[in-house]
Amino acid sequence: MAIESSCDETSVSILRNGRNVLTNIIASQILQHQKFGGVVPEVASRKHIENINQVIEDALREAGVTFDDITHIAVTYGPGLVGALLVGLSAAKAIAFARGIPLNGVNHIEGHIYANFIEHKDLEPPFIALIVSGGHTHLVYMKDYGEYEVIGRTRDDASGEAFDKVARALGLGYPGGPEIDRLAKIGNNKAITFPKALLEEGSYDFSFSGLKSAVLNYLNSQKMKGNEIHTADVAASFQQSVIEVLTEKTLACAKERGINTVVLAGGVAANSGLRELLGEECKKRGIQLKYPSLKLCTDNAAMIGCVGYYDYIKGLRSDMHLNAMPNLKIGQRY
Ligand code: KG4
Ligand code: ZN
Repeated sequence: MAIESSCDETSVSILRNGRNVLTNIIASQILQHQKFGGVVPEVASRKHIENINQVIEDALREAGVTFDDITHIAVTYGPGLVGALLVGLSAAKAIAFARGIPLNGVNHIEGHIYANFIEHKDLEPPFIALIVSGGHTHLVYMKDYGEYEVIGRTRDDASGEAFDKVARALGLGYPGGPEIDRLAKIGNNKAITFPKALLEEGSYDFSFSGLKSAVLNYLNSQKMKGNEIHTADVAASFQQSVIEVLTEKTLACAKERGINTVVLAGGVAANSGLRELLGEECKKRGIQLKYPSLKLCTDNAAMIGCVGYYDYIKGLRSDMHLNAMPNLKIGQRY
């Protein structure tokens, strides 16, 4: 069994041998947070508490198993919102203690990468992973299961955060990524030239706050001039700038490392523009690109169970001292 509660999704999954998902229940809190335009940590914790037992019961029922069949439990212990993480963690520890079964604390970002192992049964490291979510933007060289080298990361806003903030400025709903994605399909991505922050020569880091400010400045100046704002064009042009930077850096990194498999992960991996552009560019270079289906891109417990399984067979175990680590880094253990 795997439990995920790091942000605004309470999710419980039951898996067999790490890659075979029997069920993956996701109770989303989007409706509760929408009216605030973003996730309210206190509300998230309370909702997790209300949901967790029901979601566990639903998962067992849907998988057609009972607690007697559960041999091992995996849970996200970071990074994420501390109050939210603690709910899933407490539930997992209680089950592990009561049933006398092993416990593995899992890093949420690793979970996003492992979503690909569930989807692509033949995928094996080494590969380059681009992890783009609401809280993270990482370019990682994954040498082997559990072995990561972080090659680049964002210096300010995460890519998903930039999507959400720009969407908010455009008066679109929360979360903004899917809305911008939808509008970008009908907008002109060359209508406005927004900056592409490539940073210093050879750097694999990212920066999205300058782009976000450029969009906000553009919107303000258009309003001051009394010009009509073409929301779809702004969305398409903004998205183009983000996905070009992500694509360029990922391909440069794969080339430098001589790696011919690239893996996309995290909520922004659901972006159709990114899938298309990175897909086309990979194809030109003979690189295979893998990404999870939409349901496995955003937060879910199945991906956490997959990491828990591989950690478990490596001999790793957590104990009852396992605590929530809001700033847990990729590759960092307990
Ligand atoms: O991975 P995730 O569910 O949560 C975190 O761990 O952060 O990612 C959520 C993020 C949000 O910022 C959301 O706007 C973004 O993923 N997102 C998208 C799309 N779907 C979700 N961004 C761009 N295009 C999408 N289609
Ligand atoms: Zn996530």
